[in-house]
Amino acid sequence: MSPSNPKKTYTRSPAIEKQIDDLLAKMTLEEKVGQITMVETYSIEPEQVSEYFIGGLLSGGGGNPDPNTPENWRKMVTDLQKPALTTRLGIPAIYGSDAVHGHNNVKGAVIFPHNIALGATRDADLVQRIGQITAKECLATSVHWAFAPAVSVPMDVRWGRSYEGFSQDTDLVSEMGVALVQGLQATSDAGHMNVLACAKHYLADGATEWGSKRALAEAVPDTNTATAGLSEQAEEDLGQWQIDQGISKIDEAELRAKHLPPYIAAIEAGVQTVMVSYSSWGGLKMHAQRYLLTDVLKQELGFDGLVVSDWMGIDQIDPDFYTSVVTSINAGLDMIMVPYDFRRFISTLLEAVQNGDISQERIDDAVRRILRVKFAVNLFEQPFGDESLVAQVGSSVHRAVAREAVRKSLVLLKNDADSLPLSKDLPALLVAGQGANDIGIQCGGWSITWQGEVGATTTGTTLLDGIRDTVSKNTTIHYALDGAFTADIHTEVGIAVLHVPPYAEGFGDRYDLALSNDQIQLLDNPRKHCNKLVVILIAGRPLISTEQLPKMDALVMAWLPGTEGNGVADVLFGDYPFTGKLPFYWARSMEQIPYAAMQTHPEKPLFEIGDGITSS
Ligand code: BGC
Ligand code: BGC
Repeated sequence: MSPSNPKKTYTRSPAIEKQIDDLLAKMTLEEKVGQITMVETYSIEPEQVSEYFIGGLLSGGGGNPDPNTPENWRKMVTDLQKPALTTRLGIPAIYGSDAVHGHNNVKGAVIFPHNIALGATRDADLVQRIGQITAKECLATSVHWAFAPAVSVPMDVRWGRSYEGFSQDTDLVSEMGVALVQGLQATSDAGHMNVLACAKHYLADGATEWGSKRALAEAVPDTNTATAGLSEQAEEDLGQWQIDQGISKIDEAELRAKHLPPYIAAIEAGVQTVMVSYSSWGGLKMHAQRYLLTDVLKQELGFDGLVVSDWMGIDQIDPDFYTSVVTSINAGLDMIMVPYDFRRFISTLLEAVQNGDISQERIDDAVRRILRVKFAVNLFEQPFGDESLVAQVGSSVHRAVAREAVRKSLVLLKNDADSLPLSKDLPALLVAGQGANDIGIQCGGWSITWQGEVGATTTGTTLLDGIRDTVSKNTTIHYALDGAFTADIHTEVGIAVLHVPPYAEGFGDRYDLALSNDQIQLLDNPRKHCNKLVVILIAGRPLISTEQLPKMDALVMAWLPGTEGNGVADVLFGDYPFTGKLPFYWARSMEQIPYAAMQTHPEKPLFEIGDGITSS
């Protein structure tokens, strides 16, 4: 599976290191501290970017202009870049965004399947092409930094971020992570990178223990357990914020064997930035881990790019902000995603350096790394990205690759009596479920908004659109949201699309992953009206479905496919084969979750990593 686009590799040049030395020699402490500061797009006025010499800017999930168009995105970013260029030394600011499955905040951009689905494709060449397209759509809007890929190895699927991980198999995570890094950072003919990638969240974000986040939040109150309007009791009943940002209670051997290799691989592939995890290990927040950030990442692994904190990540170190700033910078963080009150951060950091609590050398090292990656991505020459690419945002060429990714990510888990593929000439077909016809649902979290949303949130094709376009003119499609059809309707085949509403991060932590009553109803209703029932699951992780499996003639895991839902029909009706393989094991019951419990359980899981029926 070697990539189809063998690329030139970017190499550090002594000439650029010399330019960095010259800049550093000219910079005042205020200018250096400004470089270290990363601010959220709506928390700063353009003139403050130059006043405070701001080095980094970002859109969080949903940090969009209104109206949300590629052109307005470009304007939002360039309006903040212009003042940076008017400063004495004219050092451009770097703008980052969570382009984690395409440039997914932007309305009209192509949205690819989430990483868990890409893990199912086992296709590194495809993932590299996805990275290249994402880079183009980012550059169109002048975004030079994608906060991707997550190279998490999720050990407990109750974790809301499970879908951001490619696999539970470390080697597969490494392979896919490298492919995305190489795609995003592909070296142009001019010898620089297109967009900076970011391996996250360092380290072992996928190893946290259920319940440990709640315990931590009680010890150090922080702002990252903000609610989505539910009562605390309702959140606890669901399990929200039980595991995300929690404690990884594993020893160093496991940390190194299971969770470090994807970073080693990404660094070898030239990744320029690493984002630190909200989680804790060995009694310390990762943001305070000098050993893991400086000794291991920078010294042992030789990482010479920049280490960035996560959103308000340093605030969780200590209730005293001064202590948090000193600890995080001394641990080895180079850029701080503040992201709101940048003036407080800047004055605190200045004070800490003046007090001698942070050395001038540490500041210089951080700024050197920041400048280094800015040169790597040609920011000094091309601070406004590439306007000529705007016309390519969400283009049909890009969508074709997303559709290919959807096709290759589908995993066929059951196919009794060769129920699939379906004939295009069926006289009638039942389709059930809201998820069959909803772009927002099929995109999941990190899509236009942080949490994602149900509804027609952006441009694309739904599964139902794809089915309609594929079947013959003479096929009648009966579609019902709840799958309750009138008594007179009976067909050979019914398709039930079961889904989970969108979520992101700790909002998606779930105590119980069994199919819900609504989902079961969506099976039982159409079952009465057809001879064969094909079930398609739109979900960010395996769901417990052991008891319901006998009611299904075929089961297809479609993950969170993104905007190109027609890729599902391509395979369902036999234009392309099923080739996807499970990147996660599929538990028989909640007793087999997390991974450690499955290993000691007397029964095998329902499906193993690598399972998936292939067709030709
Ligand atoms: C997430 C990161 C993300 C950052 C910026 C954090 O809450 O953990 O993955 O890159 O926000 O949006
Ligand atoms: C932002 C996200 C960020 C999160 C962190 C949200 O308001 O939109 O990007 O990851 O806060 O808590």
